[in-house]
Amino acid sequence: MAVVVVDLRGRVRFLNASAEQLFGLSRRHALGRRFAAHFVDAQPLERLLAEAAGGGFGEKTVDLSLARTGGEAQALIVSAVAGVDPAAPVLLEFRPQEQRRRVDRAERLIESTSAYRDLVRQLAHEIGNPLGGIRGAAQLLDAELETARLREYTGVIVKEADRLQSLVDRLLAPHRGRPRHARMNIHEVCEWVRSVVLAEYPAGLEILRDYDASLPELLADRERLVQGLLNLVRNAAQAMQGRGRIVLRTRIARQQTIARRRWKLALDLHVIDDGPGVPAAIAERVFDPLVSGREGGTGLGLTLAQDLVQQHGGIIEFDSRPGKTDFRIRLPLQEDRT
Ligand SMILES: Nc1ncnc2c1ncn2[C@@H]1O[C@H](COP(=O)(O)OP(=O)(O)OP(=O)(O)O)[C@@H](O)[C@H]1O
Ligand SMILES: [Mg+2]
Repeated sequence: MAVVVVDLRGRVRFLNASAEQLFGLSRRHALGRRFAAHFVDAQPLERLLAEAAGGGFGEKTVDLSLARTGGEAQALIVSAVAGVDPAAPVLLEFRPQEQRRRVDRAERLIESTSAYRDLVRQLAHEIGNPLGGIRGAAQLLDAELETARLREYTGVIVKEADRLQSLVDRLLAPHRGRPRHARMNIHEVCEWVRSVVLAEYPAGLEILRDYDASLPELLADRERLVQGLLNLVRNAAQAMQGRGRIVLRTRIARQQTIARRRWKLALDLHVIDDGPGVPAAIAERVFDPLVSGREGGTGLGLTLAQDLVQQHGGIIEFDSRPGKTDFRIRLPLQEDRT
């Protein structure tokens, strides 16, 4: 976090290394000078400082855009804390707005997935119930039909009913039964998924491991994690048409907020591929059900994976550009109770 302390006349008393870096200022150059003077169009900042100096508030957070002369404007969230003592300096904390947007996005994602979850489950039931009847009736009809040409039609009904049934099964799968949590090693899950996908693509696909062996064990439902990870790794392999390199990378992540809960320790599992990237047209919606950019795809893989990971209190996010796509599963390990 970038921190700057100014006195009542707006002169810099202190700035930390993050602030030096954020604004491209050297401490030597900045100390003792008016802070606002470093920026073009600094009136909103001046107003904030004047208000703080005048005892207008104790603490206040605002969105500001600041640009150095000749530099690009940075969108920042600024928290100003005014001293209790009227003569005391004003402390400013700066955070890039980008950071907040990421959190907002993650929260929206979690809300929308849980809303979808119920809808999808209900729809799956409604579609699934009559399917057995439709299929059975078509088979009876098939037995009565004389000509092969007519039996082609009943064949289509049976085949399409089967296709719908497997769709319905997939939709309902993550909710079947209670999750069964057990202590496990995430690398064991990785190894299993790796061998399954390598067996599906015996030629041309490489899956490298980049594991952090010091990761602690995790309490999770193994089957569900396997399914979630499998969906990501398969997507990567499919995006590269079975030819290319996937990296499975595990890392520890400290002090993370996932769905408004603070975690001291979390685990990051990246699935990185060097394929063409998520098509821009669907990038915002890839986690929504039935969104697919792939010939023959049902568009459920990521919806289900996100759901399975969220059942563990985690979240899946991704970064993608042509040549590098990184889907990251973040799973909480240890709560922050401070
Ligand atoms: N690693 C990736 N690289 C490029 N595109 C990807 C990647 N992962 C996902 N996508 C895009 O996101 C879309 C949605 O993925 P999702 O797994 O939800 O559905 P699907 O793969 O199309 O179908 P299903 O998984 O249900 O068989 C894919 O069709 C693909 O266009
Ligand atoms: Mg998929």
